[in-house]
Amino acid sequence: MNYRHAFHAGNVGDVLKHVVLLELLAALHRKPNPVHLLDTHAGIGLYDLASDEAQRGGEYRLGVGAVLADPAAHRVLPRYVAALKALNPELAPGGAGLRRYPGSPWLLKQSLRDGDRLTLCELHPQDAETLKQNIGRDPRVAVHHRDGFAALKALLPPTPRRGLALIDPAYEAKDEFAVLSKAVLAGLQRWPVGQFAIWYPIKEQKMVDAWKADLAKQLKTETLAIELTIRAAKEPKQMNGSGLLLVNPPWQIEQTLQPMLDFLKSRLTREPGAGARIETLVKAG
Ligand SMILES: C[S@@+](CC[C@H](N)C(=O)[O-])C[C@H]1O[C@@H](n2cnc3c(N)ncnc32)[C@H](O)[C@@H]1O
Repeated sequence: MNYRHAFHAGNVGDVLKHVVLLELLAALHRKPNPVHLLDTHAGIGLYDLASDEAQRGGEYRLGVGAVLADPAAHRVLPRYVAALKALNPELAPGGAGLRRYPGSPWLLKQSLRDGDRLTLCELHPQDAETLKQNIGRDPRVAVHHRDGFAALKALLPPTPRRGLALIDPAYEAKDEFAVLSKAVLAGLQRWPVGQFAIWYPIKEQKMVDAWKADLAKQLKTETLAIELTIRAAKEPKQMNGSGLLLVNPPWQIEQTLQPMLDFLKSRLTREPGAGARIETLVKAG
C-alpha cells in the first residue's frame, strides 16, 4: 500500500467528491429518520495543508485553492465553503487562511445527528490509527482497521437502515475497477435501499465508459454518473478528471449538482476538452 492521501488532499478529485457528498448528506437529512453512513476507504479524516506531504505536490492549490480564489464560490457551493470555514475559522474570501482540509470522515461526522451512526474503514495501519485519533472519539463513530471492500459484505445492511456508503478506493491495483464492481454488487444485494457514492479516476474516457456500461448492465436501480474532466481524457498515464457513480441517488439531485459542476469546470479546467456532465446510466424503475 503506497498510496497516502495526505499528498492529494484538497485536489481536483477531492473537490468534486466532497461537493457532491455534502449535497447527498443534505438530501438524506431532509427527513428526520436516523441514518447510517459508511466510508469504506476513509483516509485519516483531516489534513494539514502546511505538511511536507501536502506541500510537495501542491495539488490542493489547483483544487480547493482554485475554487476558493473565485469570490462566487460561497454562493455556488455554500455547503462546501461552510465546511471549509468551520475547519478554518480564519478563512477569508479568496482563500487566504486555508490551513486544514477536511477528509470525507470529517464531513460525514459533522453531519451526524443524535441517532445517526458512522462507520469508517481504513486498511493502512498508521492511517487507521491517525483516523481514530482525528475522528473516532465519538460514541456514534466506529473506526475499523480493515478492508473496505470486504466491509461491504460484512457490515451491510447497517442499522439504521437508511443511509449512504461512500466508496473511495486508491486505485493502486490493476484490477481495482473489477474488484470494486464486484464489491458494489455484493453491497447492493445486502442493502438494496442504500445510497452508494463511488468515486473513480478518469484517465482514458473510453476505458471508464466501458467499465460503467458493464456495471450498469448488472445494476437494477437508478444510477447516475457525475463527471468532471479538466482536459480531454485521452492520455492514459495522467489524471484527466474524476467521477462519482450515484446508485439510488436523491430525487432530482442532477438539478442541484449541474450548476455546481459548471462552476467547478470554469475554475478547474487546465486544457481544452474539459467537461462537466451528468449521465443517467440506469433509469429510475
Ligand atoms: C482516496 S483515499 C480516501 C480519501 C477519503 N475518502 C477522503 O475523501 O477524504 C483512499 C484510502 O483508502 C485506503 N485503502 C487502500 N486500500 C484499502 C482497502 N482495501 N480497504 C480500506 N482502505 C483502503 C488508503 O490507505 C487511503 O487512505
